[in-house]
Amino acid sequence: MSNKVLVTGAKGQLGQSIHDLHGYYSDFDFVFTDVHGLDLSDTNQIKNFLSQNSFNVVINCAAYTAVDEAESDQELAEQINHLAVKTLAEVAKEQNITLIHISTDYVFDGQNYRPYQEQDTTAPRGVYGATKLKGEQAFSNINPNGCMIRTSWVYSEHGNNFVKTMLRLGKEREKLGVIFDQVGTPTYAQDLARAILVIISNDDHAAILESSQAEDKVFHFSNEGVCSWYDFAKTIFELSNIDCRVNPIQTKDYPTPASRPHYSVMNKHKIKYTFDLSIPYWKDSLQKCLSILKDQN
Ligand SMILES: NC(=O)c1ccc[n+]([C@@H]2O[C@H](COP(=O)([O-])OP(=O)(O)OC[C@H]3O[C@@H](n4cnc5c(N)ncnc54)[C@H](OP(=O)(O)O)[C@@H]3O)[C@@H](O)[C@H]2O)c1
Repeated sequence: MSNKVLVTGAKGQLGQSIHDLHGYYSDFDFVFTDVHGLDLSDTNQIKNFLSQNSFNVVINCAAYTAVDEAESDQELAEQINHLAVKTLAEVAKEQNITLIHISTDYVFDGQNYRPYQEQDTTAPRGVYGATKLKGEQAFSNINPNGCMIRTSWVYSEHGNNFVKTMLRLGKEREKLGVIFDQVGTPTYAQDLARAILVIISNDDHAAILESSQAEDKVFHFSNEGVCSWYDFAKTIFELSNIDCRVNPIQTKDYPTPASRPHYSVMNKHKIKYTFDLSIPYWKDSLQKCLSILKDQN
């Protein structure tokens, strides 16, 4: 597969993680854009940018990710998470670009009793999940070459995320209440970035990405394993030798504007076997991220 790759949302967690690894993929010529280089809320800008520059692959890491703010900022969330994806998919279809788009576990309502599979019924609980789902549906209707990867609970060395918040609070406080009745799987952005780069860099994968069936193009990716936010926080403190007591609290005791799924574990069988990926266990990847963060301080 050739060879010029656009990465949108380059200042976000996933965008920066792809940037960290892109030097290992020297067959590709990468262009990284943030909101100043390519504002996805502007449809004409997307069209002009992609007509003036020629790309073989677009990895769409940009999104409106502020889950609670989206409840009162629906128009912008809709523009970035839905309409921009529609435009990207239309241009990708016209120009034969492979579009890798990232979506979320929040397209599900969290009522499942076993890990979500790609074809399971979607029913988002809030505006963020609803706008991300509309983005997925636009991708499916237009059906460009490429795929959509749903991920969950993303953290990294970059930006703001649960791991960095816990490290800060754990040093400031003696005890902390953390939700135990929301269960999912963390995703280290570097692992997802590597998976995406493996997917686009293997010629054998082209046939899968060019499949005529839109439903074949949805995949789930997180790290391996399962935990609650409480377990996640406790593990962060244990691995970092931070002496902060974690108390399990219920979702109802930590009200937020947007409702979250209680269960959002995803089944990753399809992505692993389709693209021959092995995915690290969540604690192993957490340890790796914490070591990098420690070295940075
Ligand atoms: N974070 C999670 O826990 C999580 C969970 C499930 C799925 N996902 C999905 O995974 C993908 C990557 O997430 P992430 O954690 O890397 O998110 P992130 O760190 O919030 O990065 C998103 C990036 O998109 C940029 N962006 C926002 N509006 C834009 C616009 N109008 N034009 C161009 N760029 C714009 C943001 O820029 P500014 O910072 O300047 O606004 C930010 O750099 C997203 O599709 C997200 O929906 C994330």
